Order: sequence, then C-alpha cells, then structure tokens
Amino acid sequence: MGTSSRHAFEGGLCRFGIICDDAEKGLRDLPDASFNVAVTSPPYYWARDYGFDGQLGHEDTVEEYVVSLCNVFDEVFRVLDSDGVFFLNIGDTYYSGNGQPHGSDPRSSSRNFMRKKFRAVDRSGWSIPKKSLIGVPWKVAFAMQERGWTLRSSIIWNRVNAFVEPTARDRPYRQYENVFMFSKSRFYSFDRSELVEEDVWSIPISRDRKSEHNARFPDELVRRCVLAGSPKGGWVLDPFLGSGTTIEASLSLGRNAVGIEMSKAYVSAFLKSLDRTQLSSIPFTELVDSINPRPRTWKKWTGNRANFRKPGTKSSG
Ligand SMILES: C[S@@+](CC[C@H](N)C(=O)[O-])C[C@H]1O[C@@H](n2cnc3c(N)ncnc32)[C@H](O)[C@@H]1O
Repeated sequence: MGTSSRHAFEGGLCRFGIICDDAEKGLRDLPDASFNVAVTSPPYYWARDYGFDGQLGHEDTVEEYVVSLCNVFDEVFRVLDSDGVFFLNIGDTYYSGNGQPHGSDPRSSSRNFMRKKFRAVDRSGWSIPKKSLIGVPWKVAFAMQERGWTLRSSIIWNRVNAFVEPTARDRPYRQYENVFMFSKSRFYSFDRSELVEEDVWSIPISRDRKSEHNARFPDELVRRCVLAGSPKGGWVLDPFLGSGTTIEASLSLGRNAVGIEMSKAYVSAFLKSLDRTQLSSIPFTELVDSINPRPRTWKKWTGNRANFRKPGTKSSG
C-alpha cells in the first residue's frame, strides 16, 4: 500500500477532504476539538480481507483488535468538539475454534478469504467455548468507556433485509448490528427532533450500489447520525471511509466532511466517481485551516447544546 495522499475539494457551500492513510496516522493531520460528529464502521474482527497490509481487523487476539481500534478512537476523541458525538457501527464475530478455515461464503468475494486464510477465530485454545459469539462490540464499548468516552446509547440497527446465513443451522440468523452513540462529555449537542425512531433503527442494507465496496453502510444510517449530531455547515468525520458513503451523505445534507481510508483502490474509485464540473480542488492545508470555526448556522441549530439544561430549568439555547 505504501504511499499516502491527501485530497481536498470545494463545491457549492461545502468542502470535503480525503486522507489516504492509516486511520490513526491520518487523524494526526486534523486539528483538536473541531468536528461536530463522527460516524464510522471500522473493519470488523476477522470478517473480511480488504487486501492490503496494515488493515485493521486481522489481529491475533480480540484484545489486540480492541486496542488497535481504541487507539484510532483516542484520536477521534481529540479532534471531536467538546460538544461532539460519535456514532460507531460495529458487528460481532463467532469464535469457531475449528482448527481449520471457515466454510465458503458465496455471498461475498471479500469474505471468501475465510476458506483459505487461517483466521485467529479458527484457532483452537481460546478461553471461551467453541461456537460462542464473542461480544466484540461490547468489548470495544467498554474499553472506550475506560478511555473516557461517555456511552449514551446502544442503538440496534435492524437490518430488515439481512441475508440468511447458510452455515447457521442451530441459531437465529444475525439480523442486527450495534450503533453505539458516544459523547465526549456529559453535556453535548444533539438534535433529538431529527430522530425518526428511538434506539431500534430499521434500515435495509443497501445492495444495489455500483460500488466495488461490499461493506458499504446505508446512506440512511449516516443521514440519521449527521442530522442529529451536526448543524448545517458543520463538520463530519469518518476515519474508515470505505466507498465514501459518509462524505456523500454529509454533502447532500449541507455538511462538510473528512474521510480517511487506507485502501488506495477505494480512494481512487471514490475520486473517480466525483463530478469535477461541480468541484474545485483546494490545498489540503486550506481545508484543515477552515475546519475550526463554528458554522454560521450554529446558534440557530436546534441541537445546539440541547441537553445543557439541568432538569427543571429552561434551555440555555
Ligand atoms: C467496514 S468498511 C467501511 C465501509 C464504509 N462505511 C462505506 O460505507 O463504504 C472499513 C474500511 O476500513 C478500511 N481500513 C482497514 N484498515 C484501515 C486502517 N488501518 N486505516 C484506515 N482504513 C482502514 C478498509 O479498507 C475498509 O474500506
């Protein structure tokens, strides 16, 4: 993978940037306390092979995976505004302990590596019984609490059109994933009026995309997080950008965005998909310099410090 790159664009009233690099490293380019909301779906533990060295998700132990993710999220914490929120979509994995690679998965080529590659979850000798669900999302959430994040909600993403799991003959198929909502402090900005459901979100998986990326999350999932977590003109961050869903959804809602993605192939595909007639390229440093100030719309945003109110007192607005 080697080479890293930075790209920045301006179009209409919004700006966006793409950092092609390791997430933790790329985040270091961004200023402190700047983003209103972060939305991401990291590589899940041993779920896919994105085909490059340095990818997250192939650690030998769950503990190492949790540490790798938390190190990235420490940087997210730093760049998030003190009023900011972070939505983390993360799925679980089973401990097979089979001693051999998993069966094939005809649904997805990036999952077929399970047939060939000896995954850590196939290795025998773990301290939990074989066939156990590991509980990866909650391990990550608890570790993030230890590092200072306030866990405010464990939203269930009900993937209403989830695939059947051909190998799951003795348990229900997995239909949901977690979307954890974290804040940086107890008091933060959040626009509850934008929520269309409470903590169970029924959103179909998007399957009809032209995109090469098959772990793409639905626009609707990102839209909900962006609308509740940022004002128009605010800033959205995704440290595992993939095909670019977070940038596209943010721009369509009048927000600025920065995404980080280590795969050169995904970054090139995203850059190619941009309509250059509507955009101008700007220096990356110019983008970074424009991240900090509160947008003009901040004061009027319904979510602005909405919960700074102490019970029994009037909202400070
Ligand atoms: C679950 S996918 C994100 C999909 C994205 N939400 C979308 O809608 O397309 C996780 C992404 O993380 C990328 N990735 C893996 N390791 C990384 C690392 N160390 N730094 C940055 N990106 C990484 C993978 O290439 C993959 O595109």
